[in-house]
Amino acid sequence: MFKKKPFFVVFEGIEGSGKSYQSNRLYKKLKQKKFPVILTREPGGTKTAEKIRNVILDDYFHKDSDKQFDKNTDTLLYLAARNEHLINRILPAIKKNKIVICDRFIDSTFAYQIYGKSVSKDLVDGIHKHILGNIKPNLTILLTVKISKALSRLKKRKKKNRYDKFSKKFYIKAQNAFVKISKKNKKKYLVLDSSNDDKKIEQKILEVILNRIK
Ligand code: TMP
Repeated sequence: MFKKKPFFVVFEGIEGSGKSYQSNRLYKKLKQKKFPVILTREPGGTKTAEKIRNVILDDYFHKDSDKQFDKNTDTLLYLAARNEHLINRILPAIKKNKIVICDRFIDSTFAYQIYGKSVSKDLVDGIHKHILGNIKPNLTILLTVKISKALSRLKKRKKKNRYDKFSKKFYIKAQNAFVKISKKNKKKYLVLDSSNDDKKIEQKILEVILNRIK
């Protein structure tokens, strides 16, 4: 039986780790089982946050560095989108005791901005303190992947985008950062290797979630 308590689950991982696919599969399965569940993502998840997402992602396409946002501006945009998302989507769903599945959340900021681009942790922590309140994921599912596999998955995508801009080295660094973060609080993380395209991961995730929300 579902306890009618909110449950906040986040999927994290580098591009090509399968987190969008797995979060969508989980959402569909919980929906089929008639659980009150929403699927959302960061940056984005609301009209206003999606506007900010477009500004951020558009910035990745500029070739000239003088036309690109400074790394602090970029970080503040992610945090601004998060604030919009928290107020207008996550908090209302949590108040209604829903299961919230979110494709990326705060660990992405730690992995990409703090570890990846050396943005000040104090800057991010300070803003998080103001905007997060007591919202914390109940569980973060980190999908790791062999970098060569991630890159081959990205190549197959029809929509070519910013992924081409990042080097293999950047992905290795970001994935190592995600793993490092997950080790700090093992009880709150489920780390799964998603390099093989089989159904086992999907089943494992569902099993763990059903157990946690019982
Ligand atoms: P997506 O590929 O999952 O749609 O995410 C969009 C990009 O945003 C991806 O390159 C990771 C990046 N990102 C950050 O750099 N920091 C963040 O805090 C978040 C949420 C995403």
